[in-house]
Amino acid sequence: ARAPRGGVDLAGKRVVVTAGGTREPLDPVRFLGNRSSGRQGVAIASAAQARGAEVVLIAAHLEVEPPEGVELVEVQTALELEEAVTEASRAADIVVMTAAVADYRPAETRDAKIKKSEAGQTLTLELVANPDILAGLASRKRDGQVLVGFAAETEPDPSALIELGRNKLAAKGSDFLVLNQVGWSQGFATESNEVVVLRKGGDIVMEASGSKLSVADRILDVIV
Ligand code: CTP
Ligand code: CA
Repeated sequence: ARAPRGGVDLAGKRVVVTAGGTREPLDPVRFLGNRSSGRQGVAIASAAQARGAEVVLIAAHLEVEPPEGVELVEVQTALELEEAVTEASRAADIVVMTAAVADYRPAETRDAKIKKSEAGQTLTLELVANPDILAGLASRKRDGQVLVGFAAETEPDPSALIELGRNKLAAKGSDFLVLNQVGWSQGFATESNEVVVLRKGGDIVMEASGSKLSVADRILDVIV
């Protein structure tokens, strides 16, 4: 493991990190998914472990290897992620939700492949809302527990981006929101990241750019 910059300042702390992107099955061979690679979440898990924390990584379809020595819980769907993070967060000091959770899932999951012959030239899918996991965790939060959300937004205007982040933070009720701008070629499956961290109330407490691991350490500095 890497030598931690600030020493083992998370020794004895239990940190839960969700990472990756959920997949919501349509039928046995198809799903609705998203482009989250899990890199930033894995970097946070790895940095927290190097700083002495006991880490639970709740992983939804990671494109990168999870760090060795973390407790790994693999999930597929938003509902599975909700169950896993609810359970793991009971004893957690810090919960970091980097996972890209599907906002909707198919209203029904077919047991057999959907056939073109049933649908014709257009196919309409009915989707139902998934629970807001972070908001749920915030409503049940213990004293002293720190909850961190992430928001990847496509808003190009910096001040509108911050405004969006402030509204989202207020809606979620988490202690921090890590905000970054994403686009077709920005933010996903890349080694670096650029973030702004807002704390409850909306103040900007940190801005960082660099490797996902260095950004992870800066985010942990804020949490500590
Ligand atoms: N999140 C969650 N449960 C959901 C959706 C999102 O816990 N059903 C978490 C994500 O893990 C992330 C934070 O909430 O930490 C923000 O996710 P985001 O998708 O940006 O927020 P939404 O409320 O889903 O808003 P939007 O309509 O912009 O997608
Ligand atoms: Ca969403």
